[in-house]
Amino acid sequence: MKKATNQALVIFGASGDLTYRKLLPAVFDLFMNNLLPDGFAVLGISRSQYTDHAFREKMKKGIKEFSNFKNAESDKINNFLSKIFYLSIDTENGEEYVLVKEKLTELNRKFNLGCNYIFYLSTPPSLYASIPKFLYGQGLTFQQKGFRRIVFEKPFGHNLLSAKELNKLLLEFFEEDQIYRIDHYLGKETVQNLMVTRFANGIYEPLWNRNFVQHVEITAAENIGVEGRGEYYDHAGALRDMVQNHLLQMVSLVAMEPPIKITPQDIRYEKMKVFRALHPLSEYDLKNHVIRGQYTASTIRGKHYPAYREEPHVAKDSRTETYVAMKFFIDNWRWADVPFYIRTGKRLPTRVSEVVIHFKPSPLPLFRHEGSSDKLNNQLILRIHPDEGILLKTGMKVPGNDYLVKSVNMDFHYSELSNQYIPDPYERLLLDCMTGDNTLFMDGEAVEETWKFVQPILDYWENHPEAPLYGYPAGTWGPDVADRLIEGKNDTWRYPCKNLADDGMYCEL
Ligand code: BG6
Repeated sequence: MKKATNQALVIFGASGDLTYRKLLPAVFDLFMNNLLPDGFAVLGISRSQYTDHAFREKMKKGIKEFSNFKNAESDKINNFLSKIFYLSIDTENGEEYVLVKEKLTELNRKFNLGCNYIFYLSTPPSLYASIPKFLYGQGLTFQQKGFRRIVFEKPFGHNLLSAKELNKLLLEFFEEDQIYRIDHYLGKETVQNLMVTRFANGIYEPLWNRNFVQHVEITAAENIGVEGRGEYYDHAGALRDMVQNHLLQMVSLVAMEPPIKITPQDIRYEKMKVFRALHPLSEYDLKNHVIRGQYTASTIRGKHYPAYREEPHVAKDSRTETYVAMKFFIDNWRWADVPFYIRTGKRLPTRVSEVVIHFKPSPLPLFRHEGSSDKLNNQLILRIHPDEGILLKTGMKVPGNDYLVKSVNMDFHYSELSNQYIPDPYERLLLDCMTGDNTLFMDGEAVEETWKFVQPILDYWENHPEAPLYGYPAGTWGPDVADRLIEGKNDTWRYPCKNLADDGMYCEL
């Protein structure tokens, strides 16, 4: 198990939701798992005024609600909280960063931190350029004495140009290997398992290519709406919020070649090759193979769900997409001509993320099939969440005097692993950053490649305001037209439910 050296975690934007719900509970999980170094401190920084005590009390609440160790003894929680400090500064004023330096010097002495600091930017992206500059101004980015790392939450850039500019600017203050661009999907155990399933088993890899795979489907569905994040979301939309990062990261893990070794360089290199091979979307594709939608109001079992345009801080005439489905190709030997379908949306019937590999049918249909379908769909489903697991759909003879085939499930659920602790993605990613392992973070070049792929969609929507934005009632699977994307008579998206093995049923919000 990796163990980090003494260090401080400095969180900018510490009064925000992410720190409360995700970051501090994850650091507490590391503490409970004995993965924090002996010399360790957290310094929370933001504009809001808190005393150390008030900040600790707030974090205690977050821990009790969101940590994996919610019911930890008070002594343990208090011991952990004694390592947490707070500093209020105007983060937009460079002169105030001297206070950061002073505070770190004090904590360094007290906790023997070895001058090792991680700066975590959990702030609005508008501060992504200035905070690094101000840290640099105080000499806090140089690594003569200890290590200095900086973590960026997504979104990294608002489009290709801004991502490029930010990458360029950051290199004035940090080296690339000091920069950690987080995508929390990569911290998910089941996302990491994509690579293990593929490359640890001899049985899948020979089939994992254009000769045997008919198409690949990736879904990241959510049943929640924008949950008070209207201001951010209305400027982002599903394409920026989910596709450019989480979905394309999953695509890269599904499509990549085996790395030579399990090192950050080798894995990143193979993923990068996938991003480079994404077939650029033509005008025809942009018009026909990218579907956007926005949820409208609906009432489900007597409960009213407002339309996206009625959500707080969302423009009344907003044309921001809360749903995207698209079809594209990967131009390499393994995947040429195999359609990839991806979709994501808010206020869909259920929360589920999964990858579905649809295999080609057997060459000749020898048997009759039970039910209405005339062919068997062999599918391998890699469930990211919930009910994490793997499901293989295969054909079996229906017992009796006839040769009748039915589709059956062979499934494994993570919940069957007794006593297996599954870390939260932030716990895993924070530990990786603390130990200097950037495998599961995005490098600057890869971020630019993913933006390069989605930028034509952004441009197309901007230049063609008449391009349809389909309404879909909250609680449904998005616009019907998305079904037409899928090639092949009778083929549709999989309509998954919360339980891995159930599909094709109607799941309600
Ligand atoms: C975040 C998006 O990155 O991912 C959110 O900003 C989204 O809009 C979330 O809800 C989904 O993450 P998960 O882990 O719940 O699938």
